[in-house]
Amino acid sequence: MATEALNVVVPFHFRYARSAGEFTAIHAPGVNLVLWRREQEPGLGRLVDEFSAAHDLDVEAVLRCAEPEVWMFLSDLPACGARDMLAADIEFLVRRFGEVSGRAAARVHLETVQTDACRLFHVDAAALRMLVTYSGFGTQWVTNDNVRRGELTAQGRSFEMANREIVPRPAQIRSARPWWVMLQKGESYPGNAGNGVVHRSPPVEHAGERRLRLCINEVK
Ligand SMILES: [Fe+2]
Repeated sequence: MATEALNVVVPFHFRYARSAGEFTAIHAPGVNLVLWRREQEPGLGRLVDEFSAAHDLDVEAVLRCAEPEVWMFLSDLPACGARDMLAADIEFLVRRFGEVSGRAAARVHLETVQTDACRLFHVDAAALRMLVTYSGFGTQWVTNDNVRRGELTAQGRSFEMANREIVPRPAQIRSARPWWVMLQKGESYPGNAGNGVVHRSPPVEHAGERRLRLCINEVK
């Protein structure tokens, strides 16, 4: 029993949210990640997987958080149930992002990712960023006790070599699942320098793997 209890200890710097209402936990000093482990109904998730497999997407726009014109944002996408689901979810998340960031506008980017260009573990300069992988492998991150921050950046090494130095226990790399929402705090959040959450895009291990990723950024 004692071992089990130890295994469920959550490190101080990240928090699980049980709903979007708990994203505000990100503002606590020292916290650098709030994770909402929501699940999609499998049949609906498969609709988005099929949509993602069939279309290369790359749409980006600045939207007003209080009234995001997401239908316009996605108007070039073929009309289907998956698009409608994505539109409804993006609208919901942009509104929540506006509330938690206090910003009137957000830069929203929905894209198909087929490369692992960001496979080096890193911190973001951005203050707050929200990420959702709707289809495919989700963003990976590590707990603060599994990071050597002095090793961040490639420093002339291959990404693989650098990652081995940055993350001393690779077996403890954590991965988000589809539809989970990651609210990340980066280096430029006031008081958070040196504590940005360390994360990366999952490495693409097999040809043909693809992800559908949403990224919401602050607009100042
Ligand atoms: Fe990043």
